[in-house]
Amino acid sequence: MTKILCIGAGYVGGPTMAVIAQNCPDVQVTVVDINPDRIAAWKSDTLPIYEPGLLEVVQSSRGRNLIFSTEVDQGIADADIIFVSVNTPTKTFGRGAGCAADLQYWEKTARQILENSTSDKIVVEKSTLPVRTARAMERILHSGDGNVHFEVLSNPEFLAEGTAITDLMDPDRILIGGHETETGQAAIEKLASIYAQWVPPEKILTTNVWSSELSKLTANAFLAQRISSINSIASVCEATEANVDEVSRAIGMDSRIGAKFLRASVGFGGSCFKKDILNLVYLCETYGLDEVADYWRQVVAMNSYQGERFVNRMISAMFNTIVGKRITLFGFAFKADTGDTRESPALTVSRQLLAERADVVITDPQALVNAAKDLNEDAVTYEQDPYEAAKGAHAIAVMTEWQQYRDLDFVRIHDSMVKPAFIFDGRNLLNHKELHEIGFNVYPIGKAALTHLE
Ligand code: UDX
Ligand code: ADP
Repeated sequence: MTKILCIGAGYVGGPTMAVIAQNCPDVQVTVVDINPDRIAAWKSDTLPIYEPGLLEVVQSSRGRNLIFSTEVDQGIADADIIFVSVNTPTKTFGRGAGCAADLQYWEKTARQILENSTSDKIVVEKSTLPVRTARAMERILHSGDGNVHFEVLSNPEFLAEGTAITDLMDPDRILIGGHETETGQAAIEKLASIYAQWVPPEKILTTNVWSSELSKLTANAFLAQRISSINSIASVCEATEANVDEVSRAIGMDSRIGAKFLRASVGFGGSCFKKDILNLVYLCETYGLDEVADYWRQVVAMNSYQGERFVNRMISAMFNTIVGKRITLFGFAFKADTGDTRESPALTVSRQLLAERADVVITDPQALVNAAKDLNEDAVTYEQDPYEAAKGAHAIAVMTEWQQYRDLDFVRIHDSMVKPAFIFDGRNLLNHKELHEIGFNVYPIGKAALTHLE
């Protein structure tokens, strides 16, 4: 029986392993983490992350061929294939601070693998890592006495949070990068045979290690670039009489452009986009490709600008002062259907509103615990019920496209708010015409405002 170990039970490791275990009953999958609370949560029915459909998948295999544990060393010793999906945040200190990846958790893991291995292993990079990290991984693994053979593969994960289970069950492609040696090719085949149990063979793509690592960064950079591009056009729409939804639709019907990822918003968030683009930027700078670095850096700059622009529009609409005004954020997660708040635009918007001395109230169906951790701010009120959160507010700002916000009773909400009541829809989620008829002053993204003000 093939034994798989995954080191790191986070947003990537947890769902990915659950889906492998469900589809491969003949493979034993163990997921380990240094955080005992996380492991305890994976063993319970209150999973540590919110992801639609995940609990059912976990329950279908847990205790059969899916095991959660804190025994990292034992897990390494037993495994044939080790997935590494520990966190690789952006460095906050020293060389490359704010840009390069912080590889300390990853390197500790590599050394731990070396120390605990007595049989040959395939080591799979699952976390997004800078290009050529596999080389560093190999150097550490090969620094031992040489009795054990390690084959390093890159197998980046393309799942998006909120749709992780369907993305994993029916992926656009599985990418496996390995060395062009005999052992490298054998390792690729072994990993491919696991995915082949539920993924059609034509969707399993194999490349060299470096192409695989670079493809992951490139995919995320391209996706983020589309959002920054449409958001840049949204600002032009607000200045003219164009409507960004109409522009998106018109250009998306061009089959060369395609319709996806053209939703204008207050900005992209999440653990990947900014981090991966900055990794790409750092890589380019390292190779002296400064113009290329500047090109990609601008995608991130555009995203920060979009958030600032949103807050500026709020302040100027609300008579150039928001001091002491109650402003309710609808949603704090970086997108709908997740409790994840990493790099959420709501975070930067909240901080700017607090700097302007507004009274910030936050409501979110899944992300309030993470929001409170991130903001660590006594001046903020957290309220699960959107009606309570909006009571007495001067303005509502939609930060996350939770579908349930569309079905709220906005007449009731309007009645409970201070007048004139404002809605700033950072996701173009709500029915703006209807809200305007109720009496709201409505400010969408990339469209003219609908107001009752002179
Ligand atoms: C992303 C990639 O999609 C995934 O392939 C990769 O493995 C990890 O990074 P994720 O961060 O989970 O996934 O979410 P994604 O759906 O890509 O959304 C990222 C951000 O962009 C969110 O804040 C989302 O709200 C925003 N977005 C997305 C827009 O503002 N407009 C769009 O049209 C699409
Ligand atoms: P991602 O979104 O990439 O999955 P997360 O932060 O959700 O990132 O998950 C990474 C997980 O890796 C965390 O639960 C963290 O505790 C775990 N981790 C970090 N370092 C180690 C290590 N040396 N051994 C085991 N687990 C680790």
